Amino acid sequence: MKKAQTKQILDKNEKISHNNAKDITNNDKRRTEKDTNINIFLLICIIGVSLAILLEILNVRNRYDVCKDNKKLYWVYSAYSDVQNRKGLLKHVHLVLERIGYEKSTNKTPWTLLWSHDFPFRSLYPNLHKLRPNQKVNHFPGTGFITNKVDLATSESKYIPRAFKLPKNKAEFIKYAKLNKDAMFLEKHNQHRGVYLKNVTAIDSDSGESFVQEFIQKPFLVDGHKFDIGVYVVLTSVDPLRVYWYKGDVLFRYCPTKYYPFDANNLDKYVIGDDYLPTWEVPSLAQPYALGYSMKDAFDHYAKTKGLDTTRMWKDVQDAITEVFIKKEHHIVEALKNYPYQDNFFEMMRFDLVVDENLKVYLLEANMSPNLSSAHFPPNQLLYEQVLYNLFSLVGLSTNNDITDNNVRNMMSSQKNIAVYSGACNSICRDDCAVLDICKLCRPCLSTRLRSNLLNAHREYLHQGDFRRLFPPAMEPRANAVNATKFLNEANRLQYLWYQGKCNNDVSWCL
Ligand SMILES: *[C@@H]1O[C@H](CO)[C@@H](O)[C@H](O)[C@H]1NC(C)=O
Ligand SMILES: *[C@@H]1O[C@H](CO)[C@@H](O)[C@H](O)[C@H]1NC(C)=O
Ligand SMILES: *[C@@H]1O[C@H](CO)[C@@H](O)[C@H](O)[C@H]1NC(C)=O
Repeated sequence: MKKAQTKQILDKNEKISHNNAKDITNNDKRRTEKDTNINIFLLICIIGVSLAILLEILNVRNRYDVCKDNKKLYWVYSAYSDVQNRKGLLKHVHLVLERIGYEKSTNKTPWTLLWSHDFPFRSLYPNLHKLRPNQKVNHFPGTGFITNKVDLATSESKYIPRAFKLPKNKAEFIKYAKLNKDAMFLEKHNQHRGVYLKNVTAIDSDSGESFVQEFIQKPFLVDGHKFDIGVYVVLTSVDPLRVYWYKGDVLFRYCPTKYYPFDANNLDKYVIGDDYLPTWEVPSLAQPYALGYSMKDAFDHYAKTKGLDTTRMWKDVQDAITEVFIKKEHHIVEALKNYPYQDNFFEMMRFDLVVDENLKVYLLEANMSPNLSSAHFPPNQLLYEQVLYNLFSLVGLSTNNDITDNNVRNMMSSQKNIAVYSGACNSICRDDCAVLDICKLCRPCLSTRLRSNLLNAHREYLHQGDFRRLFPPAMEPRANAVNATKFLNEANRLQYLWYQGKCNNDVSWCL
C-alpha cells in the first residue's frame, strides 16, 4: 500500500512540474524578470517538497528495515527433517517461540537462538565456534557426560543403581553379584536391540559387549502400576554452576499393565514406552487431575492417602540431580575452553527417576532432547508449553531488549542488585580482600568474571518463572555455610556465599 501511495505522490509531482515547464515556455518573453523569478522559485519549492517527501519515504523504509533486522530469529537443526515441520516433533517449540515474538529462520541469517534437536558440537562446530554474545544455543558442550546413559549409570552415587560394562568391569560385577545374589539386572547388548531382565546367574559376562544395570525390584505402585518421574532441568552456567528444576509440574508416566503378578517377559509391566498410561487414566489419580491438580500434586495426594509423605522424596530427587551436575561440571568447563563465551549456552534436559516401595529415589537417565511432542497425549501440551515458556524466560530469550547494550543490561541488573555482606565489606574486608571468603564479594574485591556471573544470576532470579534453583540449593537465612561449601571449588563457593548473602537480606531469595 505504501508503495502505491508513493507512486501516486510522485506522479502528481511530475505533472505539476510538467505544467509549470509548459507555462514558462509559453510565457511572453517581455514579461518581467520578477515573474520568471517567482516561477523558478515555485519550481524550486515543488522540487524541494518532492525531495523532502521522497527522503521521508526512504527514511520510513530504512526504519522498517531496522525493525525487521531486530526481529528475533531462531534456527532449528537436526539431521532429522521432521523438526522443521511446525506440526511435527517440535510443534510446541515452534509455537511457544512464535508466541514470544520469534520468527523461524536458517543459519544464513543472524539468529538469536539455535534450537538443536541433535547434539550440535561436532556437526555444527564451525557455526558454534564464532558465536556473537547475543546468540544462544540450547546445549552446552560436554553435557554428553551427563546424558550418555552408560556414563551416567556408571557414576558412583547412592541414587544411581549399580551398573557395569561387560566384559570390561567383569571382576567388579562378579564381586557385586556374589554379595547380592537376589539382584536382577537389565541387560542391553551392543549387538542386539531391546533390553532383557535377568538374574545374576543368567548373565553371561563373556557374551560380547554389553551393559547391565541393577533393576529396582520393589517399586512404589499407584493402583498396582509402576511409573517413572521425568523432571525438567535447566543448566544455565558452569564455573560457577547454576542448575534449575521446573517445579510447576513433573512428567509421571505409568506402565500400562499392573506390576504383579510379575513376569519378566512382559515389558508392559516394568518398562515405560511411548504407549505409557498417563496420569488421567490411572483410576486413583483421574479425580484429582480432573480437579485441576498437576501430575505431581495428584501423585502426592495419592501417596498421602497411603500414609506416605513425599517431602523427603522430592528433596532426594533434587539431591540426586544436583549431585550429577557437581560431579560432571569439570567436563563441561573443559569442553567450553574451545568457545569464546560461555554465556552462549544453556541446556534443558529431562531426568528420569524411579522410586521403590519406601519412596527411595533412583536416578536412571538424563535425556538431552526430551520428547516434547503431545501427539500421543494432547493434555501434555500444557506441560510442554509451560516448561518451554518458563525456560525461554529464565535464559533471557523472552525480552526484546538488546542485551549487548550496557544501559539495557544495567537496567535489568546492576551493582546495587548484587552487593551483599555490607557489614563485612565496610569493616574487616576494607584493607584485605583475602581475610574472609565473603570479602571477595565486596565491590573492590569482586573479579570481573564473578561480577558478570552474579549479574547473570540476578537476571535469572528475576525471570525464573516456575523454575527453582537446584544448585546453589535452597538456603536458610543467616545459616552457617561453612559445611555446605567445604567441598566446593572457589567459584562455586563464592557464588553459594553470594546467594546466602542475598537470602540473609531478603527471604524470597532463599529458595
Ligand atoms: C535365574 O534365571 C534363570 C533363567 O531365567 C532361571 O532358570 C533360574 O532359576 C534363575 N535363578 C534364580 C536363583 O532365580
Ligand atoms: C515422541 O513422542 C510421541 C508421542 O507423543 C511419539 O509418537 C514419537 O515417536 C516420539 N518421538 C521420539 C523421537 O521419540
Ligand atoms: C559441620 O559439620 C560438622 C561435622 O559433620 C558438625 O559437627 C558441625 O555441627 C557442622 N556445623 C554446622 C554449622 O552445621
